[in-house]
Amino acid sequence: MSLQDNGSEERSQDDDDILVLREPDDWHVHFRDGDMLSFVADHTARQFARAIIMPNLVPPVTTVAAAEAYRTRILSALPEGRRFMPLMTAYLTDEIDAEEIATGFKDGVFTACKLYPAGATTNSAAGVTDVRKIWPVLERMQSIGMPLLIHGEVTAPDIDIFDREAVFLETVLTPVRAAFPDLKVVLEHITTEDSVRFVEASGPTLGATITAHHLRIDRNALFEGGIRPHAFCLPVAKRRRHKEALRKAATSGNPKFFLGTDSAPHPRHEKESACGCAGIFSAPTALESYAQTFEEEGALDRLEAFASEFGPRFYGLPLNTGTVTLRRRPQDVPDLMGNDTVHVVPFHAGETLAWRFEG
Ligand code: NCD
Ligand code: ZN
Ligand code: ZN
Repeated sequence: MSLQDNGSEERSQDDDDILVLREPDDWHVHFRDGDMLSFVADHTARQFARAIIMPNLVPPVTTVAAAEAYRTRILSALPEGRRFMPLMTAYLTDEIDAEEIATGFKDGVFTACKLYPAGATTNSAAGVTDVRKIWPVLERMQSIGMPLLIHGEVTAPDIDIFDREAVFLETVLTPVRAAFPDLKVVLEHITTEDSVRFVEASGPTLGATITAHHLRIDRNALFEGGIRPHAFCLPVAKRRRHKEALRKAATSGNPKFFLGTDSAPHPRHEKESACGCAGIFSAPTALESYAQTFEEEGALDRLEAFASEFGPRFYGLPLNTGTVTLRRRPQDVPDLMGNDTVHVVPFHAGETLAWRFEG
């Protein structure tokens, strides 16, 4: 990162108002399909050079052919001339074919596999019912160096929803790490101090993504003056002390923690419903939201590493070479976004953010 220098001895007001970062990547995003894909894709592509595209479509992306077709649909949803690389993932099921996964990885179609415990989150019904069922697939992934991305929550209905991530660490992640110590694992969208400590204490093959929203909301946000469906996502936001631990981890400079927005758009009417969908649409002001948090933590100088360096290093991919610019200029986030066919309430709706992405 460089705060732009105009060469004069005295820093003018402007110097501190521009943030130039190496082009960042989003290591966890939901693009959906059809009209929603057309609306959301460029919100991510304008800010990020690459993104890990989550495979939880209906039906899920389980084959090389499906991932290639989806990648083509993503690229054709972007405006002419946009440079953006979607990194595709395979959705693991009990019956997933290890050979298909390995072929897709070798051919550069799949970057990673995604493990959804069956029933844990949006479109996870086809997910894995017992991690032991995919043991041979994990073995294969470890041997070819293919990363495993995990939605880390147990699904047993008798486990309190606020404890599901912590219980997962003990009952699923610990045995997976013991059996496959060289398997690269990303614990996605961590929400607890327990996960922060677990990742810190683990070897270099375990990393974690942290969303923009889990750095800013705690579980009170779900009930502020009434029930707030737009603050609902999975894993659900936890107590304030967990949010504080996430903020410390993200801004610590520890390379095991990196940016993954988990931007997860749902149509407004499916959020504002008797059974509202889980997911927060943060893509439109993702970098601005992270910048605000890093600034509040006195760590703006660490934003670039979190957003643009630690992710590619973990995945073993090259760093981007371009830059993006944020300017300190108030930005009003709209209450509602979309077009004739799609209506989505964004994260930070109705708020004013301090920074503005300029390109
Ligand atoms: C995601 C979605 O809507 O696809 N929802 C969410 O609350 N995060 C799924 C997921 O990442 O768990
Ligand atoms: Zn998830
Ligand atoms: Zn997600």
